[in-house]
Amino acid sequence: KADDGYRLWLKYDPLQDASKRASYSKSINSVYASQESSTISAAVEELQMGLKGLLGKNITLVKSMDSKRGNIVLKIENNEKLSEEGYRIFSQNGNFYISSKSEKGLLYGSYEFLRQVQTLQDLSKINIESNPKIKLRLLNHWDNPNGTIERGYAGASLWKWHELPYVIDPRYKDYARANASIGINGTVLNNVNASARFMTAEYLEKVEALAKVFRPYQIKVFLSVRFSAPRNVGGLPTADPLDPQVRQWWKDKAKEIYSIIPDFGGFVVKANSEGEPGPQDYNRTHVDGANMLAEALEPFNGIVMWRAFVYKADPNGDRTKEAYYEFKPFDGQFHKNVIVQVKNGPLDFQPREPFHPLFGAMPQTPLMMEFQLTQEYLGFATHLVYEAPMFKEVLDADTYAKGKGSTVAKVIDGSLHNYRFSAICGVANTGSDRNWTGHPIGQVNWYTLGRLAWDYSLSSEQIAEEWIKMTLTTQPKAVATIKDMMLKSREVMVNYMTPLGLHHLMGEGIHYGPQPWLDKSGRPDWTSTYYHRADTIGLGFNRSATGSNAVGLYAPEIQAVWGSEENCPLEFLLWFHHVRWDKKLPTGKSLWDELCFRYYGGAEEVKKMQEQWIPIKPFIDKEIFTDVLGRLQIQHREAVWWRDACVLYFQTFSKKPIPEPLEKPK
Ligand code: GCU
Repeated sequence: KADDGYRLWLKYDPLQDASKRASYSKSINSVYASQESSTISAAVEELQMGLKGLLGKNITLVKSMDSKRGNIVLKIENNEKLSEEGYRIFSQNGNFYISSKSEKGLLYGSYEFLRQVQTLQDLSKINIESNPKIKLRLLNHWDNPNGTIERGYAGASLWKWHELPYVIDPRYKDYARANASIGINGTVLNNVNASARFMTAEYLEKVEALAKVFRPYQIKVFLSVRFSAPRNVGGLPTADPLDPQVRQWWKDKAKEIYSIIPDFGGFVVKANSEGEPGPQDYNRTHVDGANMLAEALEPFNGIVMWRAFVYKADPNGDRTKEAYYEFKPFDGQFHKNVIVQVKNGPLDFQPREPFHPLFGAMPQTPLMMEFQLTQEYLGFATHLVYEAPMFKEVLDADTYAKGKGSTVAKVIDGSLHNYRFSAICGVANTGSDRNWTGHPIGQVNWYTLGRLAWDYSLSSEQIAEEWIKMTLTTQPKAVATIKDMMLKSREVMVNYMTPLGLHHLMGEGIHYGPQPWLDKSGRPDWTSTYYHRADTIGLGFNRSATGSNAVGLYAPEIQAVWGSEENCPLEFLLWFHHVRWDKKLPTGKSLWDELCFRYYGGAEEVKKMQEQWIPIKPFIDKEIFTDVLGRLQIQHREAVWWRDACVLYFQTFSKKPIPEPLEKPK
């Protein structure tokens, strides 16, 4: 059957490995659930559909345990080692048990069982116990009511607002299945640059129609809210968070929302950022704004995710310090159902950034992680970039907030500072394209978010291998090749776009392609020259103690490394330092030569990736093979474009020749 990528990692094509298939078929006959609920039905349906596809065999739902053995038993039971969503899978007397404290764990356990089969694991002694490390695991859609997606590269929005609530696209259910299969338990449906329309009864009914589809899959809906909604759609003259009428408006609105969507999750708020309205418009603070909304949602157990993506337009300042200064002073003052949503790095989803200095700096305020799955600065949906190594680099980074081992992951899972709750989200890369993400391999970034949110100790390699086997092929050589391409892809991209700690050299506004010469824009900190600071002496933004001292926002242990030009790892060198062109680096090359070698090496590696892809042909679907091949061609052309644009531009400052044996751009 031709595969166009629609079925994602839930493809369920017959297992290629005949002996594995035969052995699974022999040991699995039926499914039995000790209780009934819409979630348990969803789990059973998935098991039946999945196993039918994989094994070519009908798995019947039985009303009592079949004495013939080979039952998959879904069972709610009290197990102290499991959290509410956790599960245990084990085999006993020829039957397989999926057990959990709640229907949630049964759902997640069922998907795990299928994953075991899809990735050809040995089921005979299966014994898995698993709990999610982070409580709220969300996608953030930057989707607009008119169907467009901010920074979306895979077609239009999945949500057909003009048809809802009357027409329910079957795709909504497939979306829910995909998310449930990787443990995602919430979705923010609309853009952070939010339309106030979502606060109208008309739209809330549409939102409920989606919530209804997602409910059996344990996915809660959330909305981004426009802070000025009381003015925009409420008819009030102000949105001042300390105004009693405004506060009442939000309380009434919360009541209305929950009367329509009883399990509504809460709000995401982008306030006083990039022109969006917020409490500062009324000389109030982030705390005033967030707490007002939090108090309105509190009676219904809703939460507020208040974003920390704020920065001022100061040509002499350092944008990467702004959020820290705006938020750190408020530590401990946010209401108990507020969580502050922080992007992984202090700038904006660059190919490489150091972790955000707020992580570890707000022990009394739960902080959550915002990753970006959609490749805004990463070549859109045309470049192959596997993001797991990038996410892991941040999660594994040590903040030293409570001494060695205080990783960012331990901040956001709540364990380091004993936060009241924990959350992580990814800005979705999905759209109406048949294959959901445009680039067929972009699917893995969605998959990764869910898997890492559940268990950030999984390696990039394991996640890649699972996804390849479930989605593309189980042929060992092909798996190894695709995995190799994926694992190196992020570093390759960094090299041809922004090596050695460079950042934000992308085309103005669109953020695609190189434009290092950009020196004028709507704001000084939207230009490239603001960030790279190239001059005749050298290159890079001095954020050390002799410069903006952004490095001073990190723990002393980190300052000692990143703050010193000698000790700073090369990947962050030009992020923190302005380095002389002729400075000898630990690689033995001068800065200029190293820069050239990285740009050339990156572009060369894409060429190699193209060559690696060709022999994969017999082992994967033709349509996907051809699609990826074409995208790799674009990626190579564009890697060369990046290389030539940046090298030639920086050369006007360095005045040095392109080192041998690299060839001059033609
Ligand atoms: C980036 C992106 C914007 C987005 C913003 C945000 O700046 O370019 O489109 O709105 O991030 O995260 O709010």
